[in-house]
Amino acid sequence: MSTHYTSHEELVRALNRNGQEHLAQQLNELGGSRREELFQQLVTYDWERLGRLVQTYVLSEGAVKIPEELQPAPYYPMTPAGPDQEAQYRAAWAKGAQLVLEGKVALFMVAGGQGSRLGFEHPKGLFPASPIRRLSLFGWFAESLHHMQRRFRTVIPWYIMTSQTNHDATVGFFEENDYFGLDPQNLMFFSQAMLPAFDLETGKALLKSPTSLALSPNGHGGSLTAIRESGALADMRRRGIEHISYIQVDNPLVRPIDPLFIGLHALADSEMSSKMLPKREPMEKLGNFCMCADKLWVIEYSDMPVALAEEVDPGTGRLRFLAGSIAIHVLRVDFVERLTADPDQLGLPFHRAEKAVAYWDPACGAAVSPSGKNAVKLEMFVFDALPLCSRTVILETSREEEFAPIKDADGRGLDSPLVARRALIERGARWLEQNGVLVARDAAEEVAGMIEISPFVAIYPEDLQAYELPAQILEGDTFLL
Ligand code: UD1
Repeated sequence: MSTHYTSHEELVRALNRNGQEHLAQQLNELGGSRREELFQQLVTYDWERLGRLVQTYVLSEGAVKIPEELQPAPYYPMTPAGPDQEAQYRAAWAKGAQLVLEGKVALFMVAGGQGSRLGFEHPKGLFPASPIRRLSLFGWFAESLHHMQRRFRTVIPWYIMTSQTNHDATVGFFEENDYFGLDPQNLMFFSQAMLPAFDLETGKALLKSPTSLALSPNGHGGSLTAIRESGALADMRRRGIEHISYIQVDNPLVRPIDPLFIGLHALADSEMSSKMLPKREPMEKLGNFCMCADKLWVIEYSDMPVALAEEVDPGTGRLRFLAGSIAIHVLRVDFVERLTADPDQLGLPFHRAEKAVAYWDPACGAAVSPSGKNAVKLEMFVFDALPLCSRTVILETSREEEFAPIKDADGRGLDSPLVARRALIERGARWLEQNGVLVARDAAEEVAGMIEISPFVAIYPEDLQAYELPAQILEGDTFLL
C-alpha cells in the first residue's frame, strides 16, 4: 500500500487543509502505539484527493451526470437473425474456443462486496446456493471452471477480488476446501481498496474506533486499479492472457467462460463487452445500456429517468430502453493496462450512496449507532469504463439460462436464494427434457421434484448426451448429476 506522507507534520497539514481537522486532533490525543496505528492508516490516503472527492460528491449532491440525448444501445440477439449472423456466431464461437484453449482467457470474479442485503455473515461466495448439495457459490463456480479446463484441455486462471472485510475468510474457505480441486498456482486472491465513509452534513471522515477510520470497499470499479496494484495484471501478461472474463460472485447461473461471447468480443476488437437481458419492466433493478455520442453507457436503475425507462418502441411494442446490464463482461487486458497506466487518473466517476454507518465520536468518546442515514459512501462502478472504450459489444442472453443473482434474503426481494435455487432446478429440468427425459410438473407447471446438475457435468444441455439419464423424474424425486 502506498504512503502519501512521510512525517506526522506533513500528514497533519494535509488533514487540516482538507476539512479533516478532527483526525489531526485525534492523532494528537493518542499516544504511543495507538497513535502509530492511526497514523499508519491515515498515510495510505491522499487527503488532497479525498478533499476534492468530498467537495464534489459529499458536500454537493449533483454528482451523477446523465448524458443527454440517450439512445438505446444496439446488441447481438440471443438467436442469430438469419444465415449471415448464424455464420458470424459460428465463427465467433470458434474464435472464443480457440482463445480459451490457447490459454488466453482468465476468469475474474468481483467478490469484495459486503452483501448486506442477504444478511449472511460470511463472504457471499460461501453461501450454500445449489438446490440439493447446498454447494457454496465458490464451489459451484470452481466446478464450472473444472468443466471448461477439461473441455478445452487448458488452464484458466481464476482471479478473485476480495476486500479487507472478507479477504481472510475467503482465502481460508478455499484452503479448507482444498481449493475445490483446482491448482492453487492458478488462483489468485487480492483485495480492493477501501475508502472512508464521510459524514453526510460535514464531509468529515468517520472513525470506527479511536484508532481506525470507518472504511468500506470502493466499489467494483475499484477492481481495475486493484488488478494492477495487486500484480494480477502482470501475472496475466506473464501467462499470455489477453481477455478477462468478468463475473460477479452472486449469480450461480452465469457461464463463467462463454466462447461465443468471448469470440464476438475478440472479433469485433472490442475493449470491453457486456451481456444484456431484456428488462422485465421499465424500472427493473438493472443498469440500462444506452448510447450517447457513439459511446456506450450503463445508466444505473436508480439514475434512469422514469419517462425514458417507460418509453415504448412503436415498431416492436417493447420498451425502447430494453437492454438491462447483468454485470457480465469481457475486458481486454491491454484496455485495463491503458486505463490504469496512471492509477490516480483512472477516469471513473464516483457514485454516492447515503447509508447508516456506525461510528466512534471523538467529541464524546463513544460509539454511536445512528438510526437513520448519517454518512456517504463513495463507490466506483466497473461499467463506467464502457464510455472510455473505443469499441464495445453487447450480447443478449436468456434470463432462464443465465441470471438469477442472490442478493436479498428470502422473503425480502426478488433476488433471493430460493428464487436462484428454483432457477437452477428449472434449468436442469429443461436440459433433461431436451434430452428426452420426462419431468413431472405440478399444476403451475413447476418442476415437482428436486434437480441439481453440477456444472462439472454440464454447462449446455447437449453435454448431458454423454450421460445415462433416467426415462423420467417423478413428483418428489431427487435427481443429482
Ligand atoms: C449490480 C449492478 C447492476 C446490475 C446487477 C446485476 C451496480 C451498482 N449495479 O447491482 O447494474 O444490473 O448488479 O446483478 O453494481 N462488489 C465488489 N466490491 C465492491 C462492491 C461490490 O467486489 O466494493 C461486488 C460484489 O461482491 C458483487 C458485485 O460487485 O459480486 C455486485 O455488487 P452489488 O452491490 O450487489 O450490486 P447491485 O446493486 O446488486
